[in-house]
Amino acid sequence: MKLLVTGGCGFIGSNFIRYIIKKHPSYRIVNVDKLTYAGNLENLHGLKKKRTYRFIKADICNASQMTKVFKKTKSDTVINFAAESHVDRSISSAAPFIKTNFLGVGVLLNCALEFGVKKFLHISTDEVYGSILRGKFKEPSRLDPSSPYSASKAAADGLVMSYYRTYGLPILITRSSNNYGPYQFPEKFIPLVILNALTNKKIPLYGDGLNIRDWIYVEDNCHAIDTVLHKGMPGEIYNIGGQCERTNRFVVKTILKILKKPASLITYVQDRPGHDRRYALSVTKIRNELKWQPRTSFSEGLKRTIAWYLDNQGWLKNTQTGAYRTFYKKYYGSLGLKDL
Ligand SMILES: NC(=O)c1ccc[n+]([C@@H]2O[C@H](COP(=O)([O-])OP(=O)(O)OC[C@H]3O[C@@H](n4cnc5c(N)ncnc54)[C@H](O)[C@@H]3O)[C@@H](O)[C@H]2O)c1
Repeated sequence: MKLLVTGGCGFIGSNFIRYIIKKHPSYRIVNVDKLTYAGNLENLHGLKKKRTYRFIKADICNASQMTKVFKKTKSDTVINFAAESHVDRSISSAAPFIKTNFLGVGVLLNCALEFGVKKFLHISTDEVYGSILRGKFKEPSRLDPSSPYSASKAAADGLVMSYYRTYGLPILITRSSNNYGPYQFPEKFIPLVILNALTNKKIPLYGDGLNIRDWIYVEDNCHAIDTVLHKGMPGEIYNIGGQCERTNRFVVKTILKILKKPASLITYVQDRPGHDRRYALSVTKIRNELKWQPRTSFSEGLKRTIAWYLDNQGWLKNTQTGAYRTFYKKYYGSLGLKDL
C-alpha cells in the first residue's frame, strides 16, 4: 500500500504513523503536513531514516502543492487527519477551520479523483452529531454540530460522501470520540490538566464540570482506523468510541489523585458558548461488522498517558516554549516540496 497521510505531525496522525509502520512494515508512507502550531516533527522523531517513510511540508488547501504531491508520490490510499482541531480556537476565529477542514478536504478529494486513488479515508469526529442527553448516536443519526469546529467537520463529511455518490470515489469516514494519549498538544483537556497539575497551576473546569465525554485511548483509535482501512466498505461511516463516558470533573479528579495533587487546584470558569453537554456513540456497527472493540481501559490508558508526559518533559517544554517549531529545520534541513 502507498499511503498518503495528511496531518501526520499532529496528535492522532503521528500515533497512527508509528502504529502503521509497526503493523505493516512494508507499507510506504508519505506524511504531508503544513506544520501549524499543532504540527510537531518531534512527534515522529526517529522515523527520518526509515526508507518507507517520507515527510513533505505542504498545505492541503493549496491545490497546486497537492497536485504535485499526488503526481510525484503516486499514493494509492489517502488518510486525512489534517485539520484545525481545537474547539476554543474555532470560537475565537472560525476562518482557518472553514478553510482547512472544508476547503482543504475539497482539494484532497479533487486530487484523489484526478489521480484515481483506491481508498480515501476521512477522519471525522463524534462532535458532528452534537449533544445527546440520553441514548447514543448511530451513524445515520442527524448531524447537529454546535461549534465552528464541529460544523466545519460536519460540512466536510457531507462533501466527502458526495464524492462517493456523485463520482464513485471509494471513500470511508470514521467518527471517533475524544482521544487521549502520548503526543497530544497541551492545549487539549487531558494534557492541559496533567501539565497544570505538575506545575501546581490552577486547572480550569468549564461550567459545573459535569459535561460528559466518551474517552478513547489513541492507540485503540489507530487500531480502529487500521481496521476500517482494511475491512471497511466504501461509502460507509464508522463510529469509533471508547465506551468510556466520564464527566470532566471525574477526569480531573482522577488525574490529580494519580499525581498526588490537591483538588483545590480546580477552578470553575464560565462555560464555553455552545458547550455540548454529552457525547455518546454507538459502536455496534464497527463491532459487529468489522470485529473491532477498544482494548484499553480508562484507568490503564490514563496511567500510560501520565507516565508518558512524565517521561517526556523535554517534549512538553518544547511545545510550551515553541522550540519544537525550529526542530523541523534543524532535523530535516530544507526537506519539503522542492525535494519531491
Ligand atoms: N483529538 C481528538 O480527540 C479527536 C477526536 C475525533 C476526531 N479528531 C479528528 O482527528 C484529526 C486529527 O486530530 P488531532 O487531535 O491529531 O489534531 P492536531 O491538531 O493534533 O493535528 C492536526 C495536524 O494537521 C496539520 N494541519 C493543519 N492544517 C493543515 C493544512 N492546511 N495542511 C496540512 N496539514 C495541516 C497540523 O499541522 C497538525 O499536524 C482531525 O481531523 C480531528 O478533527 C480528533
